[in-house]
Amino acid sequence: ISLKEFNTFGIDVNARFYLKIESVLQLQKALQLESFTEKFILSGGSNILLTKDIESLVLHIAIPGIFIEEENQEHVIVRAMAGENWHELVLWTLTRNFGGLENLSLIPGCVGTSPIQNIGAYGVELVDVFVSCEAMDLETHELVEFSKEECEFGYRDSIFKNQAKGKYVITSVAFKLTKDKHQLFTQYGAIENELQEMGVVQPTIQEVSKAVIKIRQSKLPDPKELGNSGSFFKNPVLNKKQFDGFRKKFPEAPFYELEDSNYKVPAGWLVEQSGFKGKRFGDAGVHEKQALVLVNYGNASGNEVVELSEKIKDTVLEKFGIALETEVNIIR
Ligand code: EPU
Repeated sequence: ISLKEFNTFGIDVNARFYLKIESVLQLQKALQLESFTEKFILSGGSNILLTKDIESLVLHIAIPGIFIEEENQEHVIVRAMAGENWHELVLWTLTRNFGGLENLSLIPGCVGTSPIQNIGAYGVELVDVFVSCEAMDLETHELVEFSKEECEFGYRDSIFKNQAKGKYVITSVAFKLTKDKHQLFTQYGAIENELQEMGVVQPTIQEVSKAVIKIRQSKLPDPKELGNSGSFFKNPVLNKKQFDGFRKKFPEAPFYELEDSNYKVPAGWLVEQSGFKGKRFGDAGVHEKQALVLVNYGNASGNEVVELSEKIKDTVLEKFGIALETEVNIIR
């Protein structure tokens, strides 16, 4: 079957064998199928770039369910199963007035893959509300629990991109959310401006979500209309010495100082300054409103997108001396 509908980049490759997985038990059974030695785990398809047909058995993780596991006066622990759409979960929490996920509104993808890259936006990261996750070990087919510490979260990073890479399928994630004393993170410039425009002085979590949705819709292409996987590159982190050298040459560059006296430079700026913003090469291109996002205008192949990304990386390296790291998982 074609996987075009199952990856937000809209790359048209085929899966030779495909199984939709709707329960943890079904997952366990599928992993035990001995006729397929290799399995390819597919979730929301929002952070992958497919470059060829998949010959192994594709397991499409679509396990549903959202439950309240525990609650007291102040907090609630919500567990969501891996196959739930991320934004649907955010909306579910907002209608119950549970706070914590509002800044993470409208991020494409599913719950099960949210810990892998520690999804983050507008000053909040998954790690801020994460309690634990359950994952199935691909070798023993047993469920294992990972605590927050065990996940080793970092900026767009976790153990699932490092030592645990390719060894587990996350089946559910538990979040700790607030019930009424919500802690808002609205200091992010774009959110402040949007709330002001909405005429809101003391925002509710629902209003913060609305503001985030508006900002995202104004900058980021909707995968249903234009294939993409969000930020294609990570924002590079420079140490003090590298940053000082960079700043001397490019005093106009935007940056954020991090706690450990490292500096983050927006990759979008580097790509834009390298002349790629809004450029199109065949059906692969760089989004016109956010240079960090590569897009598929219709029939781009995965390799065309990879080629474009390599061209961008080379140019940025030559011009700024900075090696961009790919954020999207390229399947070669
Ligand atoms: N900029 C440009 N040109 C561009 C894009 C950005 O000059 O085309 C500069 C501007 O100076 C702007 C700054 O970059 O002020 C920051 O841009 P923005 O607020 O859009 O955020 P970002 O750093 O480009 C990151 C995340 C996004 C997340 C936003 C908001 C990464 C790799 N990306 O982007 O995450 O939504 O912050 O918090 O960290 C994603 O991971 O898929 C994603 C969309």
